[in-house]
Amino acid sequence: MKKERESWGSRIGFVLAAAGSAIGLGNIWRFPYITGENGGGAFLLIYLFFTFAVGVSVMTSEFILGRSSKLSSVGAFKSKDRSWTFVGVLGVLTPFLIMGYYPVIGGWSLAYMVKSLTGLLKSPDMVDSFVGLISGTWEPLIWMLIYLAMNAVIIARGVNKGIEKASVVLMPTLFVLLIIIIIKGLTLPGSGAGLTFLLKPDFSQVRPSSFLAALGQAFFSLSLAMGVMTTYSSYLGEEESLPKNALIISTMDFSIALMAGLALFPALFAFGLEPTQGPGLVFMVVPRIFQEMGAVGPIFSFIFFAALMVAALTSSMSLLEVVVSYLMDERGMERRKATWLSATAMFVVCIMASLSQGPLADVTLFGLGTLDFLDTITDKIFLAVGGALISIFVGWKLDKDFLYNQFTNNGKSATGFFNIWYNLVKFVIPVLVAVVAISGILSIEQTGVMVTGLVVIAVLAIFSKKL
Ligand code: PFF
Repeated sequence: MKKERESWGSRIGFVLAAAGSAIGLGNIWRFPYITGENGGGAFLLIYLFFTFAVGVSVMTSEFILGRSSKLSSVGAFKSKDRSWTFVGVLGVLTPFLIMGYYPVIGGWSLAYMVKSLTGLLKSPDMVDSFVGLISGTWEPLIWMLIYLAMNAVIIARGVNKGIEKASVVLMPTLFVLLIIIIIKGLTLPGSGAGLTFLLKPDFSQVRPSSFLAALGQAFFSLSLAMGVMTTYSSYLGEEESLPKNALIISTMDFSIALMAGLALFPALFAFGLEPTQGPGLVFMVVPRIFQEMGAVGPIFSFIFFAALMVAALTSSMSLLEVVVSYLMDERGMERRKATWLSATAMFVVCIMASLSQGPLADVTLFGLGTLDFLDTITDKIFLAVGGALISIFVGWKLDKDFLYNQFTNNGKSATGFFNIWYNLVKFVIPVLVAVVAISGILSIEQTGVMVTGLVVIAVLAIFSKKL
């Protein structure tokens, strides 16, 4: 179904939307705690490699798919080869599952934003405050509901103007606040150990599963293998350099993650906390830094969590939009109906994810609570496999001349990089991802999760052709 496509008013509009999708909880909430769990500096290096060698190449591939087909993910694959439709379908299922827990964390950020002004910083122990919030029944559910509803209202209206304006102000604010936190953290006594932890690679800390964790984190953080970048680039003009845009967006995304690391680890060590604290890291460390700032602390804390919440919002909106645009384009549903239907289904999954942090902690699937299960199956399996399949599709199914013309805009730019990219996408990335995924999967305890993930992909591959 081909419609008239709008295009991005300006290059900066596209870069901001794509960076808005990329920069989110993945950078500030997820990256530091995953780095903490995987030993620090060495993990950072592996993550750096995956971002620039694999992430930029896969992002360029998605841009080519989107811009050349002028369709969103499922359509882009279907229009080129029906038997590959399942890769596009996987790119709708994955965002749906991520939206089964992302709003829970978005809700925590919202809660912390409000609580910053109502005495959060007065509590003596930030670890206790955080655990108290997330392990509750109703409170986290209500925050999650408000957060998810904000997404749905924006996407149902299809007007993102307001949120674009908010993020143009709040993203730079987040950047400035991170710098303030970094400076504050580095002046705390004992913070040097945190800097060493983050920047000095200690490869003895690296496990085989760390490679898969870094790969999954890179895809997650760059919003890859989920149709988002394919869809966004379907509105992109012919004169834009695709690899250049991919490089700019990835650099921005990596920088924010690194800054989050620099903001958290020195302070964390100064406060005597463990880097393996898990998903609560940012919520335990940042308010404590603001506590040290006296009277202005609550205001800074409020602004920080507001900015984090908006960063999260621009990411989760893109996830919801993928599901909604699938229902609209491929199932002929009307926008409002598609939005509320998807959001309701996501809400149900989010209830389970939220309660898995407290009252339903004992309800597990293959040893994991709902939130951890969704995180593991998407991040460790669907993203890695999806990313590899996108590379294989682009490298092996599309014509080399066509790719050259897309990559270089008919020989006008980045010509020298084409062969490097082409060989990476065609040979290196599929093999690398396969090795990393297999060794990671084998070394992870939750074999059941892995088997489930692979079975789901196989089932999709068999049945999607009929879609
Ligand atoms: N990249 C986002 C983040 O780092 O928080 C999360 C995300 C958004 C993942 C959109 C995937 C996606 F399609």
